[in-house]
Amino acid sequence: MMDRVESGIPGLDEMIEGGFVLPSAVLIAGAPGTGKTTLAVQSLFYGARKGETGMFITAISEPNWVVQKFLGSFQFYDQSLIDQGRVVFGDVGEALRDDPSVVLEVIQTEVDRYSPNRLVIDPVSVMRIAIDDDRRYREFLHDLITYMKAFNCVSFLTAEFDFSSIITAMEGYMVDCIVLLSYPREENTRRKYLEVLKMRGTKHLTGEQSVDIDKSGFIVQPGLR
Ligand SMILES: Nc1ncnc2c1ncn2[C@@H]1O[C@H](COP(=O)(O)OP(=O)(O)OP(=O)(O)O)[C@@H](O)[C@H]1O
Ligand SMILES: [Mg+2]
Repeated sequence: MMDRVESGIPGLDEMIEGGFVLPSAVLIAGAPGTGKTTLAVQSLFYGARKGETGMFITAISEPNWVVQKFLGSFQFYDQSLIDQGRVVFGDVGEALRDDPSVVLEVIQTEVDRYSPNRLVIDPVSVMRIAIDDDRRYREFLHDLITYMKAFNCVSFLTAEFDFSSIITAMEGYMVDCIVLLSYPREENTRRKYLEVLKMRGTKHLTGEQSVDIDKSGFIVQPGLR
């Protein structure tokens, strides 16, 4: 019997035998605007409300206050949890620009300081560009995932992959779970979907499941067509 943590995403846990495996690394893949950041941050706040610590690390030029401004309109967003240090926002953008080889150490220092139960790296794909070397990027990912597992942490790595790029990406082989978000064109509209492509040790529901994002956040409706 594997230890699991509830995702905090309505509809998702029933697809994955109750939650994410503890510890594990989860790749959240999808095109821009499919809901990667929303899903990941909602899970952090869910854990934090249960007494966990969650850590969000961004690596892009988009500063954290901008991220927080967008997320602030969701009902799961709770400033008091940030003020209490239960949800911590960190930024490795500067370290990444100065010297990509120290980014892992910078992350590890933050992790040692806060001991998060859930960690988000959003987006991890920026690290690949900064490190600019497949072998070194693979080492970075391997060391990061191994380090976080030693903390019994669930790590969420977001990336802008679609299905065809994910099946050849090294990230896909390295993680324990792949959640693919999409918004395929249908007639004259686009609806959002979530698909669990892979989850080690879990008999998960397969196929694209409907997603709704509203002010309560990210919701999956498994089985709804
Ligand atoms: N309050 C809201 N009500 C309904 N839908 C919303 C709301 N806020 C955001 N959305 C939807 O969520 C999408 C943004 O989600 P999010 O930022 O999590 O996506 P992302 O995959 O992280 O995108 P990116 O790759 O650009 O970072 C918006 O494009 C919109 O469709
Ligand atoms: Mg995002």
